[in-house]
Amino acid sequence: MDIAGKIIVVTGGGGGIGEGLCRRFAAEGAKTVVVADLDEERARKVAESIKGIAAYCDVRDRRDIEDLISNTEERVGPIDLFCSNAGIITLGGVEVPDEQWQRIWEINVLSHVRVGRVLIPRMIERGGGALMITASAAGLLSQIGSIPYSVTKHAAVGLAESIAITYGDQGIQVFALCPQAVRSDMTRRHEGGGVAAVDGLMEPEEVAEKVMQAFRDDTFLILPHGEVKTYMQRKASDYDRWLHGMRRLQARFLEGAPLKQ
Ligand SMILES: NC(=O)c1ccc[n+]([C@@H]2O[C@H](COP(=O)([O-])OP(=O)(O)OC[C@H]3O[C@@H](n4cnc5c(N)ncnc54)[C@H](O)[C@@H]3O)[C@@H](O)[C@H]2O)c1
Repeated sequence: MDIAGKIIVVTGGGGGIGEGLCRRFAAEGAKTVVVADLDEERARKVAESIKGIAAYCDVRDRRDIEDLISNTEERVGPIDLFCSNAGIITLGGVEVPDEQWQRIWEINVLSHVRVGRVLIPRMIERGGGALMITASAAGLLSQIGSIPYSVTKHAAVGLAESIAITYGDQGIQVFALCPQAVRSDMTRRHEGGGVAAVDGLMEPEEVAEKVMQAFRDDTFLILPHGEVKTYMQRKASDYDRWLHGMRRLQARFLEGAPLKQ
């Protein structure tokens, strides 16, 4: 997929990975980049600096997503690529209360379903289009210290995979972006990026570079951190051994740095 001349929407585009994507897409000659964010000020700053368009959107709100898509298509044109990127982390295990589970489920999973519900039929009708879902390496492996994050990111990977299978023959191209730790507000809250940064903290610009590479190669699974593929292979070849290894990693991190919200 070539980015030049494309109309692109990025949710959570006001900072972190989303901002890195917006900047790179603009540099690659996208026709229009719509920087959508809950934080209008951040969206405006990024949009201004890349001559894009800022849009308010809380991805937790079904109507905000519908409006974002409809307004973009009415005012700018048909969306070629929608990057459903905004997401949150909630630390903790089974003690996390239902309200917080509901919130992370709506943001990390249901938002992508809602994007697909509005956009996929439109894209199919006009011959195709692309979606990128920002999941996480936690959706393939697991996030130590956050069961809600691991579970919702697994669901996001499953969703991307299912959309690719279900609608691929009708022209829908899907990408699942699965990084480990990336420098952003999310990792800034945890010194050194937390346990996800075990293989280092990547800059959003580097993630954007890996995304461009995957677009060029048309590869569904985008793994900015190369180690993740090896971990996936180890997990697939011996699940029990992998679980033991993860418990060891957890013990190492919880001793040194207890995870706090
Ligand atoms: N940072 C990492 O280490 C990392 C690693 C793997 C995956 N991810 C995933 O990448 C995505 C982006 O993460 P990040 O670290 O860049 O995020 P971040 O916490 O830096 O936030 C980026 C932007 O998203 C916006 N945002 C937050 N909630 C929103 C909502 N409900 N609606 C619209 N915008 C919202 C914020 O205002 C912010 O401008 C998330 O889905 C995250 O789970 C992040």
